[in-house]
Amino acid sequence: MNTNITFNNGNTIPAVGLGTFRIEDNDLAAKTVASAIEVGYRHIDTAAIYGNEEGVGRGMKDSEIPRNELFLTTKIWNDDLRSGKIKEAMAVSLEKLGTDYVDMVLVHWPAGEYTEYWKLFEELYDEGLAKNIGVSNFTMRMLDKLLPVCRIKPVVNQVERHPYFIQKPLLKYCDKKEIALTAWSGFMVGELLNKPDILGLAEKYGKTAAQIIQRWNYQNGVISIPKSINPDRMKENIDIFDFNISFEDMKYIDTFDKNMRKGPNPENFNF
Ligand SMILES: NC(=O)c1ccc[n+]([C@@H]2O[C@H](COP(=O)([O-])OP(=O)(O)OC[C@H]3O[C@@H](n4cnc5c(N)ncnc54)[C@H](OP(=O)(O)O)[C@@H]3O)[C@@H](O)[C@H]2O)c1
Repeated sequence: MNTNITFNNGNTIPAVGLGTFRIEDNDLAAKTVASAIEVGYRHIDTAAIYGNEEGVGRGMKDSEIPRNELFLTTKIWNDDLRSGKIKEAMAVSLEKLGTDYVDMVLVHWPAGEYTEYWKLFEELYDEGLAKNIGVSNFTMRMLDKLLPVCRIKPVVNQVERHPYFIQKPLLKYCDKKEIALTAWSGFMVGELLNKPDILGLAEKYGKTAAQIIQRWNYQNGVISIPKSINPDRMKENIDIFDFNISFEDMKYIDTFDKNMRKGPNPENFNF
């Protein structure tokens, strides 16, 4: 089971997807994606810069699940954003993925003149090459620049978020603007899974630390995309629909925030 979240355009996305960052080997990517689909995932997150689109596409085909039952996201990298070569980059990604559309394409980082090239993302949507368009690593300041000038609103903002970097103001802002939030590095690349505060809750609920974080995101309406190459862990990370974290414990997790990032601050980035 993988409950869907509904976008501002009425389309839906499975609340839990598989992340594929740092799976650079395409054979491993194909095997990982096929295993994830086998254990129940229907949503896969990749990016041009991950170097694994060919393997991701192959894994989807190997799974024999019909294309229209899978939700595939890719992202256009900074060089192509800066040069405005959005359409060219999309064509390369589609070729590697072996599909004629993606379910969602994201601006990977707010590089270059995003208020200008967003028009090209809107055209990708109009042309049916991307069923949904969104952004990643956008701050409230950046969304405040983009939203007044866009014709089609982003459906998603994909950002770093985990219990040590909660981004509550951004989550509230996105809720108000009807932009879904996706959490990247939800486990802080695994670091949070042996922290006593999270393990304490895992013990209380008879779940794992990963499941507590996954469920906390889900109950906040946040999409999650944990990465694992291990089928048992994949199963664990999606098996979160049979329990509830209490209101008090949801508030308690919010107190874990240490404003501790794993990745760069989008306001100072330059890559
Ligand atoms: N938009 C962006 O700029 C951006 C940036 C970073 C990431 N992302 C996306 O977000 C996805 C997730 O983030 P992430 O890959 O950085 O890190 P993550 O999902 O926070 O953590 C992945 C790490 O945790 C381990 N792990 C996963 N499940 C586990 C479990 N149940 N028990 C123990 N260990 C577990 C994995 O190891 P094994 O694989 O060995 O199981 C891996 O080392 C990425 O893959 C990517 O798709 C997007």
